[in-house]
Amino acid sequence: MKIGVLCSGGDSPGMNACIRSIVRTALQRGHEIVGFMDGYQGILDEDFYFAAAGMSRFLMRTVSGLSKKGGTILNSSRCPEFATVAGMQKAADILRKLEIDALIPIGGNGTLTGAHEFRQYWDGRIVGCPGTIDNDLCATDFTIGFKTAVQTAVDAIDKLRDTAASHHRMFLVELMGRHCGFITLHAAIAAGCEVACIPEAPVSVEKIVEHLASLKKLGKSSIIMAVAEGYHEGVISLQEKLKAAGAPFSMRAVVLGHLLRGGDPCPDDRILATQTGNLAVEAILRGETDKMAGVLHNQPTLSPLVDAIAEHRKVPQELIDLLNCVSK
Ligand code: F6P
Repeated sequence: MKIGVLCSGGDSPGMNACIRSIVRTALQRGHEIVGFMDGYQGILDEDFYFAAAGMSRFLMRTVSGLSKKGGTILNSSRCPEFATVAGMQKAADILRKLEIDALIPIGGNGTLTGAHEFRQYWDGRIVGCPGTIDNDLCATDFTIGFKTAVQTAVDAIDKLRDTAASHHRMFLVELMGRHCGFITLHAAIAAGCEVACIPEAPVSVEKIVEHLASLKKLGKSSIIMAVAEGYHEGVISLQEKLKAAGAPFSMRAVVLGHLLRGGDPCPDDRILATQTGNLAVEAILRGETDKMAGVLHNQPTLSPLVDAIAEHRKVPQELIDLLNCVSK
């Protein structure tokens, strides 16, 4: 079989480890892998990863040393053309012309939603891998890159705490995670933040100020508030609103943003990437399609793509309660 692989949407630490696993598994089973550059755009542009001059087929050694590297050697993009009927028809024609039998897209909710819709236009097999720092996919315990992003966030917040404590200040720290608060809440618990503002538990500015006043009464002299991207229009705007509403601390705002997507993957992300890449290839060889390879309840698990993308997964209430309990 000839299997295409691509990375789409926001890059995440561990995508390279996933590519390595896909390539090594497929080659050992006697199949061929080609990589498309820049996500779905690479199919539309017929833009391949070249392992050597003029050769788009991956070799075992093409992926040597990749499991430790951040980013993705295939590059990534969001591809508006692929979201159109004409774009999907064009991509299907190109894949047929190139005699590609199967596709492994590595990405998050948008990428896998696109993969599921693409099944209407192309009859090759499709098994995706969950690559996103957001951890917002269902049917997997974690997504590739999430734990590394949390580690990066905690390292940064630990440093900010030193300054917050020295200056009796409050820091509003903005973290990525477009539609969900996983990164924010996990980082907040791990770094000992006093407050986490996440989309799953919206709170008014007045309530936040009341809470800050109660923390001050309890003797808190520095505060770290972890804020999910987009919450109250971002930390700069939230800082202004809190100031106007009488927040009882001197404040500074920091946006960690894309910093969370970079860096070498932590061991858990490398292992998850390797497991899911391997499972995706094995599933394709068994004839599976329209599936996502995940690790669910600690077991490599193949699930229908519709289950994985059914909703933006929400943080469990227990974790919100836990932070509230220990942050007083
Ligand atoms: O989906 C991953 C993610 O990093 C989100 O957390 C964030 O909202 C978004 O991508 C940012 O996208 P871009 O890199 O296109 O600005």
